[in-house]
Amino acid sequence: MKDPLIKLENISFSYNSYSVLENINFELNLGEKIGLIGPNGSGKTTLLFIIMGFLKPLSGKIFILGKERKKEKDFLEVRQKLGLLFQDSDSQLFCPTVKEDIAFGPLNLGKNRKEVKEIVEKIASLFNIKHLLERPIYKLSGGEKKVVALATVFAMDPIAYLLDEPSSGLDEEIKKKLIEFLKVYVKTCLIVSHDHEFLKATVEKIYILKNKNIYLY
Ligand SMILES: Nc1ncnc2c1ncn2[C@@H]1O[C@H](COP(=O)(O)OP(=O)(O)O)[C@@H](O)[C@H]1O
Ligand SMILES: [Mg+2]
Repeated sequence: MKDPLIKLENISFSYNSYSVLENINFELNLGEKIGLIGPNGSGKTTLLFIIMGFLKPLSGKIFILGKERKKEKDFLEVRQKLGLLFQDSDSQLFCPTVKEDIAFGPLNLGKNRKEVKEIVEKIASLFNIKHLLERPIYKLSGGEKKVVALATVFAMDPIAYLLDEPSSGLDEEIKKKLIEFLKVYVKTCLIVSHDHEFLKATVEKIYILKNKNIYLY
């Protein structure tokens, strides 16, 4: 049988002495679309950060793409292959303009200038943000930032999408569009959301994170 794309084994995590996750087991297989709900502060963002290697678990094992990931360098490949949408768009966007932010990921993946230009154009027209390309990030509204942040993740064409509250701050029209994108372009994802309707439209299975552990909802 093929390895899961992401496998967490008995993961526990604390911020200093404040325990957030205890003995979490979780798997995401290629082709699977999973939703994750849970009260505010239950540890959903923390869990995504552990998968990306931004936070190190207190104990337990992380396997991604069939390899155990422990050290910082193990996660470099993970960050190229999994696309994380940060809950807070300001954590995602750090270039002077929208165009540069969308280009950053593909450039980092070693694409040449011409390829990157094509990707930026394709993604901008897909997300309907051509008119924003030259705009400095600080001149975007919250909703526009969210769309641009999503565009930067899609521009990397990741194997799987980890989306932290992707629909928050989006108007109904853009939300519908995002649901369509997720249906058409995304094969594998883990979506953290409080928006049950959004999840119903985008994932096959929903888990809940509560009392420091994950349960099928
Ligand atoms: N850097 C941090 N230092 C200390 N506590 C934190 C830190 N980040 C998050 N927390 C706490 O850890 C818990 C889980 O946070 P988080 O993963 O962001 O929850 P969620 O995404 O489910 O709302 C919360 O109680 C939060 O206040
Ligand atoms: Mg969160």
